[in-house]
Amino acid sequence: MSSFDVAIIGSGPGGYVAAIRAAQLGFKTAIIEKYNSLGGTCLNVGCIPSKALLSSSHHYAELAHMAENGIEISGKVKVNLAQMIARKQSVVDQTVGGINYLMEKNKITVFNGLGSFADATHINITAADGSVQTIEAKYSIIATGSKPSSLPFIKIDKERIITSTEALKLPEIPKHLIIIGGGVIGIELGQVYLRLGAQVSVVEYLDRIIPGMDAALSKELTKVLKKQGMKFYTSHKVKEVSRKGKAVTVKADDAKGAELVLEGDYCLVAVGRRPYTDGLQAEKAGVQLTDRGQIQVNDHLQTTASNIYAIGDVVRGAMLAHKAEEEGVMVAEYLAGQKPHIDYNLIPGVVYTWPEVAAVGKTEEQLKEAGVAYKAGSFPFKALGRARASGDTDGFVKILADAQTDEVLGVHMIGARAADLIAEAVTAMEFRASAEDISRMSHAHPTFAEAIKEAALAATDNRALHT
Ligand code: FAD
Ligand code: NAI
Repeated sequence: MSSFDVAIIGSGPGGYVAAIRAAQLGFKTAIIEKYNSLGGTCLNVGCIPSKALLSSSHHYAELAHMAENGIEISGKVKVNLAQMIARKQSVVDQTVGGINYLMEKNKITVFNGLGSFADATHINITAADGSVQTIEAKYSIIATGSKPSSLPFIKIDKERIITSTEALKLPEIPKHLIIIGGGVIGIELGQVYLRLGAQVSVVEYLDRIIPGMDAALSKELTKVLKKQGMKFYTSHKVKEVSRKGKAVTVKADDAKGAELVLEGDYCLVAVGRRPYTDGLQAEKAGVQLTDRGQIQVNDHLQTTASNIYAIGDVVRGAMLAHKAEEEGVMVAEYLAGQKPHIDYNLIPGVVYTWPEVAAVGKTEEQLKEAGVAYKAGSFPFKALGRARASGDTDGFVKILADAQTDEVLGVHMIGARAADLIAEAVTAMEFRASAEDISRMSHAHPTFAEAIKEAALAATDNRALHT
């Protein structure tokens, strides 16, 4: 029987990063993945393919602004969806190929098969052909991720009533895509198909889209997407989803009980994801789950079995690739006797629409609820030279700082390149910068990053220079 210092179950961004860090630290490391392709949700059916489609559809949407930029296109421009999806797949394949290379380079043993605990130190691996082999592991890390969740009365048929996985490889552009859930998946994939010409309707249970983010971001994103043609039905409770041939009907009630009936040809169910532990036989190792189905962990990400840890989407916290990665590194370093730490407050969140939405730290709603005295400074993109030069004038940056100490408590932005700009805010907050610290740093001109400096000036002393 092969034996390892560390065995990791699941090869998503949590698992494969944990494996690399464990190998770097000198552990004999194995990784077990039930699919043939490494990389988990993120690389295969999540972050990377969705960003590939967002990028392709963004190029197409940009064509509408070519004439005003002095570029004339003669002849008809049309979308070739099959090619767009083939390109997406080649991006996925290249990225997954990179993970295979990293496993080899770090001398990590890869097992393809379903990993199930026999006990706390033995894992059975069942290959696709049904053969089973058992390995021994001193430590294990569960990184089995998540799967789309649904509503009890919805039957996902994977053809017309679909999850994000199918939405990444549709055979045609929907005429009318009805999306249940105005969270990150619904809005990102909704914008892809909106740009390609579909009518897109979003039915959201709460009173605003991207409800986990600062309300000002929801408001601005709603405004921009409405301008682009997306339709929103917030505060609507979906009660029925049915299909007849190619037609899909969604029925929902608003807060006053008035019925909404939407007829479309595809319905994307994007109401969140659930932790995935099917087939893992965690109980045989003494690993307990929470009542929400997550693996129960302590502050060191240790499960109820002392030699088994768990990371990523399968444990509490944000379901984000970079959060899973940080946790993978943390566990490997902890096993090596180091004292790693994650500040979960400083894990940024990004929505890759255009304009992009990004945030770190506390929202205004959270500060109000906690009774923290704060001040806010905002700066609109339309006042930025760089934004005007490229025609990306939607959005703003908002900085929230402690009323007494001026320490930055939260940064919320929507606008061009916000996904990358948020890194400045994370760095600043990691070093506990004040708004004035940021406002006194030189920011190259003309750049989108100047909006951060100006918002910091506004937060410091209400002294933005360019509004
Ligand atoms: P996963 O990536 O889910 O990987 C778990 C792996 O474990 C899978 O490969 C699974 O097959 C394997 N596995 C499960 N059980 C077993 C078993 N018993 N034996 C062997 N293998 C097993 N996050 C971002 O940060 N940015 C984004 O832009 C982003 N975009 C997304 C877009 C979409 C459409 C979706 C669905 C998600 C997106 N996410 C994004 C979320 C991100 O994909 C997840 O947070 C991330 O993949 C979680 O990583 P993980 O390692 O915990 O689990
Ligand atoms: P989500 O939690 O972001 O959004 C789900 C939405 O569905 C919420 O707005 C919720 O209020 C709504 N909802 C729930 N029940 C409903 C109902 N019965 N009727 C109508 N609306 C309902 O989950 P989503 O979008 O499915 O994404 C899953 C996870 O994947 C998220 O946790 C997210 O972090 C991650 N992800 C991250 C991305 C990124 O970082 N850019 C991109 C895509 C996904």
